[in-house]
Amino acid sequence: MAKRVAVIGAGCSGLVCIKCCLDEGLEPMCFESSDDIGGLWRFKETQEMERTSIYRSLIVNTSKEMMCFSDFPMPDHFPNYMHNSLVVQYFRIYTEHFDLRRYIHFQTTVRSVRQRPEFSTSGQWDVVTTGRDGREEKHVFDGVLVCTGQYTQPITPAFPGVDSFPGMIAHSYDYKDPDLYRGKRLVIVGIGNSGGDIAVELSRVCEKTFLSTRTGTWITGRMLSRGLPMDMMLVRRHLDLIFNLLPRAVINWIGARMLNQKHDHQLYGLQPKYGVFDQRPIINDDLPGRILVGELVMKPNLQKFQGSTLMFNDGTAEENIDAVIFCTGYNSTFPFLSSSLNSGPDRELTLYKRIFPPSLERPTLGIMGLLQTKGAIMPVVELQARWATRVING
Ligand SMILES: Cc1cc2nc3c(=O)[nH]c(=O)nc-3n(C[C@H](O)[C@H](O)[C@H](O)COP(=O)(O)OP(=O)(O)OC[C@H]3O[C@@H](n4cnc5c(N)ncnc54)[C@H](O)[C@@H]3O)c2cc1C
Ligand SMILES: *[C@@H]1O[C@H](CO)[C@@H](O)[C@H](O)[C@H]1NC(C)=O
Ligand SMILES: *[C@@H]1O[C@H](CO)[C@@H](O)[C@H](O)[C@H]1NC(C)=O
Repeated sequence: MAKRVAVIGAGCSGLVCIKCCLDEGLEPMCFESSDDIGGLWRFKETQEMERTSIYRSLIVNTSKEMMCFSDFPMPDHFPNYMHNSLVVQYFRIYTEHFDLRRYIHFQTTVRSVRQRPEFSTSGQWDVVTTGRDGREEKHVFDGVLVCTGQYTQPITPAFPGVDSFPGMIAHSYDYKDPDLYRGKRLVIVGIGNSGGDIAVELSRVCEKTFLSTRTGTWITGRMLSRGLPMDMMLVRRHLDLIFNLLPRAVINWIGARMLNQKHDHQLYGLQPKYGVFDQRPIINDDLPGRILVGELVMKPNLQKFQGSTLMFNDGTAEENIDAVIFCTGYNSTFPFLSSSLNSGPDRELTLYKRIFPPSLERPTLGIMGLLQTKGAIMPVVELQARWATRVING
């Protein structure tokens, strides 16, 4: 009899896991708490609790050549870098092509995943779900693939005096579009990919936009030489080989020279303390241009709030600030797992090969897509799914 596998979540990770289960002769059953596929990539007008969220204008930072699944290229008429609505469309045609929808139970939330009493021999799991009518259901599975995404819990650092701030405070998690911010004086805290995107977008409608960064960042664009997609040109085996052979200091020096050719990071207030290849650069085509025309102003780390005045580490202050958006990242949590599987030292989840919790006696539960890569997530999750389904299958 085919082994039964629970797939939790029907974002891109869940979808490719269902497909790999089928390829392996496993019997998948997918639970999705919302009423549709696509996960993070399905734009919603209003923020829903504990669901990942994107802004209306979001365009991918990975090219279509590099972010499609290996056996299903993107349609020819899609642009190289797509708007989020096309990403969802791609997942829809993928789902239809491989007939995956019939394995998905929508509006069904997984509440708990626990090892069965005889787990050390069977490797089986008890899974409890609640359906759309609120009714609880219990299932037994031979394997579990957790595909619930990694951007669910926004982190907002506590700055002194923040309670005295009379204006609007939001997290990039809540950010949808610029309307609310027209004509305002805005401070954005944090320069990741989201912070950079939102700063560029709002600097076009705000009276003034300040972007505060603790560390600075390297910035690269979506295009490399001759306008070819950056990831297509850089995520290559021969380059990996060269990078691994040369000392880190040398490749950092080469990287900095290349990136500073476009705009000097020091001059633009962006210079990080770390090297180009020590952390991933953010991908943004427009940010330096917004600084050049003065509509976006770089600031060092935020020190404190004093009413509507914000003070920064270099001793400068900006008065009459109307709004602050924290682009300070996310924690990933898995509320349905037991606490022993949910966290490790430093609350970092320790996973064997970034998939299997090492404390399990049997490797029948995998956490998918909990990683950062220098390119697109989708093909990496596909490889994780192929391997994890084979492990579960014995
Ligand atoms: C702003 C932003 C931009 C990004 N841009 C890119 C990019 O350009 N390229 C790239 O490769 N990656 C990008 N990423 C990374 C992105 O996370 C991945 O591309 C991808 O969306 C991860 O998919 P997933 O299926 O793992 O998770 P999600 O897409 O988050 O899907 C998780 C699904 O699980 C469901 N779920 C959650 N809990 C439960 C439960 N208890 N029971 C049932 N269902 C549940 C949710 O409803 C959701 O549908 C970006 C991320 C962010 C935040
Ligand atoms: C997020 O994780 C950090 C440490 O990794 C922890 O200090 C913090 O309390 C967590 N935040 C939330 C909201 O859980
Ligand atoms: C694209 O942006 C997301 C969201 O900020 C980020 O997590 C991811 O690492 C970025 N991808 C690359 C290749 O830089």
